[in-house]
Amino acid sequence: MTDGAEPVVDVLISEDVIAERVTGLAKDIAGSEPEDLLIVVILKGSFVFAADLIRALDRAGAKPRVDFMTLSSYGEGMRSKGAVTLSRDISEDVTGRHVLIVDDILESGRTLLFARDLLSGRGAVSVKTCLMLDKTEKREVPIEADFTGFEIGDQFVIGYGLDLAHRYRGLPYIGVVRGD
Ligand code: IMP
Ligand code: MG
Repeated sequence: MTDGAEPVVDVLISEDVIAERVTGLAKDIAGSEPEDLLIVVILKGSFVFAADLIRALDRAGAKPRVDFMTLSSYGEGMRSKGAVTLSRDISEDVTGRHVLIVDDILESGRTLLFARDLLSGRGAVSVKTCLMLDKTEKREVPIEADFTGFEIGDQFVIGYGLDLAHRYRGLPYIGVVRGD
């Protein structure tokens, strides 16, 4: 499109499979009987997943509040920079609240640990986590998600909100960059 070096993308998880799993996750979350739940969506990568999840939650009978926080640990490419930075905070007060963090991928675990510690430190009563994808073998810090969509291997994935250098977030499926 721009530079003639478009990656070849293979489908890893199709739209239909994603939709079915999102419905299952919403039922699990709604079934855990969250009280006055506040969902904190970690931008940017999880906005597509979160949009589907909150609508599935509504169908499952849960009516959470939703707020957004922008964290980043990646540079332009496919490798993590390590340090997590908070570039946009939520506006809701989490004191005394039950919080569910929604994020795209659990890789090293640093992003999720940062978000969880930040919100617990502000006085949330409980902080649970829902991750669309989990690269279990890439974990570097001790944290596990409470609700996980799919476990995947050590592959760089794009689509369904996930980017490669800020592009491809609109792919309706989760794909793998061939040759990675
Ligand atoms: P962690 O802090 O190492 O767990 O990395 C988590 C963050 O890195 C995720 O929220 C994503 O934004 C990003 N990330 C990790 N793996 C991928 C990938 O395969 N594709 C796109 N973004 C990724
Ligand atoms: Mg992210």
